[in-house]
Amino acid sequence: MSTQTWDAALYDRHHGFVASYGQDLLELLAALPGERVLDLGCGTGDHVALLRSRRVAADGVDASAEMIARAGDKYPDFPYFAVADARELGAEDQYDAVFSNAVLHWVPEPERVAASVARALRPGGRFVAEFGGAGNVGTIIRAAQEVRAESGLPAAPLPWYYPTVGEYALVVEGAGLEVRSAWLFDRPTVLDGTAGLQNWVRMFATFLLDGLDEAAFFAALEERVRETLWRNGAWWADYRRLRLVAVKPGAPRG
Ligand SMILES: C[S@@+](CC[C@H](N)C(=O)[O-])C[C@H]1O[C@@H](n2cnc3c(N)ncnc32)[C@H](O)[C@@H]1O
Repeated sequence: MSTQTWDAALYDRHHGFVASYGQDLLELLAALPGERVLDLGCGTGDHVALLRSRRVAADGVDASAEMIARAGDKYPDFPYFAVADARELGAEDQYDAVFSNAVLHWVPEPERVAASVARALRPGGRFVAEFGGAGNVGTIIRAAQEVRAESGLPAAPLPWYYPTVGEYALVVEGAGLEVRSAWLFDRPTVLDGTAGLQNWVRMFATFLLDGLDEAAFFAALEERVRETLWRNGAWWADYRRLRLVAVKPGAPRG
C-alpha cells in the first residue's frame, strides 16, 4: 500500500476541488435509481452522499481509516462506508458499477486492482474511473526534483502510477473487462489561495520535502514554476487525467 497518510480535515478544507471535479465523472457514470454502485476510494464520502440523494444504492470504501471516519461523521445517516483496499475489495458479482475518482494513481499493483474491480462487478456492470495519467503534475515534479538536486539531495522516489491510455487499457483488459473508452486530457486545476501550491505539496507530496528546510524549498519551488503555474492571482496545478469506461462482459445493463 502507498505510505501516504491522509489528513481528512485538511483534505476537506483545501482540496474540495478533487470531489467537485468528480461530479463531472458522476455524469459519465449516469447511475440510475436502485443501481448498486461502489465508490472505490471514497475519501470523505461526498460522492456516496450525492449518489444516495439520487436514490442510487452507493457504498464507499477507502483504505484510510481516517477518511472513512470523517465520511461517517459527515454523513451519519449513511452507514455505507468501510475501510478496504482497492486490491482486495472482497466483493463478488455484486455491483452494477464501480466508480473511482482521483484514487488509482495512489495504488500500486494496478493488475490486482483491476482484477478486484472485475470480481466486484456483476456481468454487464461498468467500471468508470478517473485518475492521474502520464505526465500528470510534470511541471511541479520536475521543479521540485531540481530544487532537491540543487540542495545536494537525491531525487525523491515518486509513489504515483501515471499510466498512458495504452498501458492502462492493457491492464484493464487483462482483468477480463472490455474497454469502451479511455482518454488522457489536460485539466489545469486552480489551487486554493496564495498558499495553494504549498498546501498541495503538504497534502499530496510531503516526500518532496524530505531532508529540506520547508520555507527554503517552497520559496525555490514557487520561483521556479511561477511563470508557468501562477495565473490571475492563483496557482494552477498542471493536472493531466486519464478517464476510462470499461464493462464486464455478460448480461447487458438494465
Ligand atoms: C485524492 S483522494 C480522493 C477521494 C475521493 N474519491 C474524492 O473524489 O474526493 C484519494 C483517496 O484514495 C484513497 N486510497 C489510496 N490508496 C488506496 C487503496 N489502496 N485502496 C483504497 N483507497 C485508497 C485514499 O485513502 C484517499 O481517500
